[in-house]
Amino acid sequence: MFVKAGIVAGLIATAAAAPKKQQKAVTSTTATAASAGINTGLPYSYPQSPSVNSAAVSSAASYAGIPASDIPGATNAVPPIVSSQVTGVTSHGPYNGPAPTTTGAVSNSPAGTAIPMLPPNPTALVYSPNGTLNNQQPIPYQPAGGLGTNGTEPVYRVQSDFDYESILLGLYQEWIELDLFHNILATFSEEEFTAAGLTPSDRFLIEFMADQESGHATLLSNLLGGPGGATPQCTYNYPFTTVHEAFDFTQKLTRFGESGVWGFQSHLDSREVAQLLDQSIATEARQQMIFRQFSGLFPMPVWFETGIPQSWAWTLLAPYISECPANSKRLAWQNFPGLNVLNQPNSARWNATQTGFNETSGFGPAAPSSDPPVGQGCVGNNVTGLDCSASISQNRSIPLSYPGRTVYLEWENPGKAVGPNNSYITDTKAGAPEWVVWVSQLNVTYSPLTNISINNTNGMNTGMTIQPDVSTYEGDPAINGTMFIALTDTNQTYTAFNLSNINPHVAAGPFLYQAG
Ligand SMILES: *[C@@H]1O[C@H](CO)[C@@H](O)[C@H](O)[C@H]1NC(C)=O
Ligand SMILES: *[C@@H]1O[C@H](CO)[C@@H](O)[C@H](O)[C@H]1NC(C)=O
Ligand SMILES: *[C@@H]1O[C@H](CO)[C@@H](O)[C@H](O)[C@H]1NC(C)=O
Ligand SMILES: *[C@@H]1O[C@H](CO)[C@@H](O)[C@H](O)[C@H]1NC(C)=O
Ligand SMILES: *[C@@H]1O[C@H](CO)[C@@H](O)[C@H](O)[C@H]1NC(C)=O
Ligand SMILES: *[C@@H]1O[C@H](CO)[C@@H](O)[C@H](O)[C@H]1NC(C)=O
Ligand SMILES: *[C@@H]1O[C@H](CO)[C@@H](O)[C@H](O)[C@H]1NC(C)=O
Ligand SMILES: *[C@@H]1O[C@H](CO)[C@@H](O)[C@H](O)[C@H]1NC(C)=O
Ligand SMILES: *[C@@H]1O[C@H](CO)[C@@H](O)[C@H](O)[C@H]1NC(C)=O
Ligand SMILES: *[C@@H]1O[C@H](CO)[C@@H](O)[C@H](O)[C@H]1NC(C)=O
Ligand SMILES: *[C@@H]1O[C@H](CO)[C@@H](O)[C@H](O)[C@H]1NC(C)=O
Ligand SMILES: *[C@@H]1O[C@H](CO)[C@@H](O)[C@H](O)[C@H]1NC(C)=O
Repeated sequence: MFVKAGIVAGLIATAAAAPKKQQKAVTSTTATAASAGINTGLPYSYPQSPSVNSAAVSSAASYAGIPASDIPGATNAVPPIVSSQVTGVTSHGPYNGPAPTTTGAVSNSPAGTAIPMLPPNPTALVYSPNGTLNNQQPIPYQPAGGLGTNGTEPVYRVQSDFDYESILLGLYQEWIELDLFHNILATFSEEEFTAAGLTPSDRFLIEFMADQESGHATLLSNLLGGPGGATPQCTYNYPFTTVHEAFDFTQKLTRFGESGVWGFQSHLDSREVAQLLDQSIATEARQQMIFRQFSGLFPMPVWFETGIPQSWAWTLLAPYISECPANSKRLAWQNFPGLNVLNQPNSARWNATQTGFNETSGFGPAAPSSDPPVGQGCVGNNVTGLDCSASISQNRSIPLSYPGRTVYLEWENPGKAVGPNNSYITDTKAGAPEWVVWVSQLNVTYSPLTNISINNTNGMNTGMTIQPDVSTYEGDPAINGTMFIALTDTNQTYTAFNLSNINPHVAAGPFLYQAG
């Protein structure tokens, strides 16, 4: 199936365009790649054909002022990026097609309903970190231990359903980011960007970040084994109408993209996949910070970036995917019922304490703060501490949120069709919600959910809570930045490494709370 010429030609635009003569270089480069351990020979390997871009070669030679043959590597073939759209046309908006024939997450026969909470593995308490070498070194200068350090050839390919579904989710995320960054550039005029404080160099940075995404999509497609395992780009639906809203949405979307990976990367069976994935997420983390800066938010008001379970990331992402091609791969993760903060702190206000109800634009858990009335906004408000024009750092005099703030919540009942082709169905295995879980930095804490009102006339449920006062370490308030909340039926203790065990207790959410 993966050898279908149409799919190959569609996905590998560069390779298809490469002249026959250059295809020869392909074989030798592929062989080098294989001996370097890159997956090229397995049953559904990605059929990409590296090629030589002669224009790029002459440009490099002309800039250096020496012949291309004198520049090491200049004439080597380069792997192409995965083409984003087979059709080349990307529209935007909600799904309007027929009802899907396949619905729900992929599933086979789950063996249980919740992962048990067990004591620590006894072997984890044996090693003595006392400043000396406990075991014989394998070679000079290399201490004993580590995983994947014994000389076995690296295999850069997913090794379990857990790996596959995690990287597949990552690929869905990379595809939307590629489209979103381009779409922001295409949607607004130079004047609108300038008014938000962006220079032409800033706009080029957005373009460059989009290019990074096509590289990330290519990497993840390879780690999934190529077209047999990868999934193509989809059609998207965005909630913003102004530049500030676009950046606010994007700093939220990249936050759950990054945190989604921090939640699973240390659990992957394939260390090799984790290695390359980390090297892409390090870039993604920089993008998230840049979009905060473009939104006029303080770039990083926390000491640690948090991780969330895959089902949280999928719940946050799915509402923004309207339609996917027929050959898309389905995900196994859960879509929880939607959660909304009715008084989400408005980052476009110079005094966010004045945020009222429903000051968001569009829809979904990453809905951006809507632009406030004239005189109340902070974009272009040239007063130190009260300005949120794009900047390296904007130090807000009035915090967006604070411990003790009353947070008004609204959530859906399960059973709603969401995501690509409206083909995933929201679900919860939890009892009635009693707690709000706050996931930020290294911490997972709860506040009681109060004033609960179920099945209101609009079919929604409402409640409220008080923002807790938690510090990660002294001097570092845990709840700050773009962070995550959800509703649970338990206040059981979870930590960064086992947070996904909370999923059977999640009644609604997650939602991206704009704490700072
Ligand atoms: C450190 O721990 C190892 C393993 O338990 C032990 O062999 C060694 O004597 C200890 N060294 C010191 C200085 O305590
Ligand atoms: C090397 O380590 C891997 C696990 O990282 C293990 O599966 C493999 O058996 C080891 N090989 C040898 C030769 O010890
Ligand atoms: C989603 O809907 C579109 C339009 O009806 C259709 O072409 C496509 O095959 C559908 N995707 C899936 C995965 O069924
Ligand atoms: C910000 O708004 C709050 C709530 O209306 C108000 O109490 C406070 O004085 C305002 N701050 C400033 C600096 O105007
Ligand atoms: C905010 O929106 C919700 C629906 O999401 C609605 O029930 C509520 O009345 C709105 N509140 C205000 C003050 O507009
Ligand atoms: C902001 O105000 C300061 C002085 O109040 C002025 O020097 C500066 O040019 C202003 N900046 C912009 C972008 O208007
Ligand atoms: C930054 O803002 C905080 C309040 O959030 C304030 O205490 C501090 O003085 C400000 N620093 C500068 C340099 O403006
Ligand atoms: C969040 O961090 C910013 C930047 O350091 C700070 O001004 C603000 O007061 C913090 N908010 C809380 C709730 O600690
Ligand atoms: C409790 O919720 C109701 C709506 O269900 C709201 O009218 C009321 O103001 C809330 N009570 C408090 C103390 O906020
Ligand atoms: C709320 O309404 C839904 C259907 O809309 C129903 O399934 C559910 O049992 C109701 N919940 C309660 C607590 O009444
Ligand atoms: C927050 O996380 C840190 C680091 O894991 C931990 O030491 C601290 O106890 C946590 N705080 C709370 C209130 O859970
Ligand atoms: C969990 O809730 C119970 C009451 O239901 C309370 O006694 C306990 O202190 C809570 N634990 C935490 C960690 O909040």
